[in-house]
Amino acid sequence: MLMHSFVLDALETTGADTFSHFEMLIDEHRQWDADDGDAKPSRLKQLVPTVGKFHTHLPLRRAFEAYNAKYGLTKRKHICISFNELRHILNLAQIMALRCGPGYEYGGSTCSLAQLGVSAAAQDEDERRALQRWESQLGDDLDLLNTPVLTAVNGNGGGGGGGSASGPPSPPKLDLNPDGGSDGTNNEQEKTTDNDEGSAKDLPHFVGPSMITFDGDQTLYSDGANFESNPKLALYLYLLLRNGVTVAVVTAAGYEYQSEKYELRLSGLLAYFRDRKLPLEDCERFYLFGGECNYLLRLGSDYKLHPVKEHGAGGWLTSTKYMEEAPGNWDENEINMLLDTAEACMKQSIDEQNLRARIIRKKRAVGLIPKPDEEIHREALDESILRVQAELQRHPRISLPFCAFNGGSDAWVDCGNKRVGVAILQSYLGVPNEETLHIGDQFLNTGNDFAARDTSPCAWITSPDETTYILKSILRLAGVPLNGHDAKSKVASAMKGNAGGGDRIGRTPSQLDFDEVERRCTTVKIMDVYTGEITTASR
Ligand code: IMP
Ligand code: MG
Repeated sequence: MLMHSFVLDALETTGADTFSHFEMLIDEHRQWDADDGDAKPSRLKQLVPTVGKFHTHLPLRRAFEAYNAKYGLTKRKHICISFNELRHILNLAQIMALRCGPGYEYGGSTCSLAQLGVSAAAQDEDERRALQRWESQLGDDLDLLNTPVLTAVNGNGGGGGGGSASGPPSPPKLDLNPDGGSDGTNNEQEKTTDNDEGSAKDLPHFVGPSMITFDGDQTLYSDGANFESNPKLALYLYLLLRNGVTVAVVTAAGYEYQSEKYELRLSGLLAYFRDRKLPLEDCERFYLFGGECNYLLRLGSDYKLHPVKEHGAGGWLTSTKYMEEAPGNWDENEINMLLDTAEACMKQSIDEQNLRARIIRKKRAVGLIPKPDEEIHREALDESILRVQAELQRHPRISLPFCAFNGGSDAWVDCGNKRVGVAILQSYLGVPNEETLHIGDQFLNTGNDFAARDTSPCAWITSPDETTYILKSILRLAGVPLNGHDAKSKVASAMKGNAGGGDRIGRTPSQLDFDEVERRCTTVKIMDVYTGEITTASR
């Protein structure tokens, strides 16, 4: 439709209406879905039989108008709106919806801000201003928390957490270490938080998602690399935590409960949190799910990751058993059967396609990875994955959730998937689907973020830079001031080790331990990201 309008030089006058039309089709589809999909399929379902679930209303028209105001799409004469731009517009519509909370519909009449006594006109005005902030590159310089509308919205102390009246959920008090040992929070000294800001409790409620889950490779760090120096992204993650948002990395990479391996992959980020003295209550809102949904860890006040208790009262495996797909219900024989079947199929793939590849077998995964200095073509990886998917789907005795995916340079079959991982976090931490956002790069049917769509609104990005941009947009739409935090500030240079100044105005000089960062980064470089094996050779 957009292409026709473009060719007829009518995009300027009809573009927004096209987005309104799809907005209406999505609403109709959501209604059909809510009615259990018994009646005749929605028009959208008929047009796109594989269409997924929409967890929120999507204000596509407003997103298009804001995007167009910023980038002038309809002024173009030679280049039509591209797939990537559509992806950006959909991402923007999704984060706009999440800022308004559950029940949001076009026009704002059922927006949760209404529950806070904010009139429909004020909600519209609030959204308009939020979008203006998003459109304006100058937004960083404004004291956005003092805009009249946000004061009205936040000032009465209600709402937040994407709209739930009780604000963002607090993480449960967990016994992180089943053996009763140190969970990294024992040292009272370490628990003190002499960072330069108040506690998250003192801050106005965050108008945005309550929980954001992140894929790892290619979303937080480049494929196969680690989170080393990325001060902008680290800053935005820090600000989200400071504003009460739960942050979880949900990655396929599984190294059982060997927490130092996940820490190595997140080394720069954890060093950043430590440097900024992220308070304990915010640390406790940072999780990592390894192996899709197999190994759950949480950040302690020592800025290290600690396994979350699995069994017994309050254990994550025990308390999510009510979910049919949850790992607490998996049968060990079935796990082995699944992995044996996948391994046999992958071996056949290697033989028949003459791949220079080898197989890795883990407790909950099988990987097909390139031999040293070799590359496997995308087509061969996709072929291998589609074979395994077909084989496992028709296997009469395998009903466990699994994920067979092309990781870009490798192919894996994991027991469980990100649908299960994100759903467990939602259930365990009490975050509704429509207040969650999953950000990832793999949304094709051979990718591993695809499954998260079943349980969470998603943003599809293609690089850590795009993740940074999305987070900046979320913070801007929420009215979190970024001035004084800007990544162009001294933080950036401190992370690179060439500045002596503090990371914020008025702060004491940076406490970043460069030796430690260097030690971790050096080790990271020599960790095999497939197996987690650490060799002793230095960089
Ligand atoms: P994600 O993008 O963060 O989900 O990570 C996917 C990548 O993790 C894969 O492409 C692999 O390179 C790597 N990886 C390391 N260990 C595993 C594993 O046990 N299962 C799946 N992927 C793994
Ligand atoms: Mg990825």
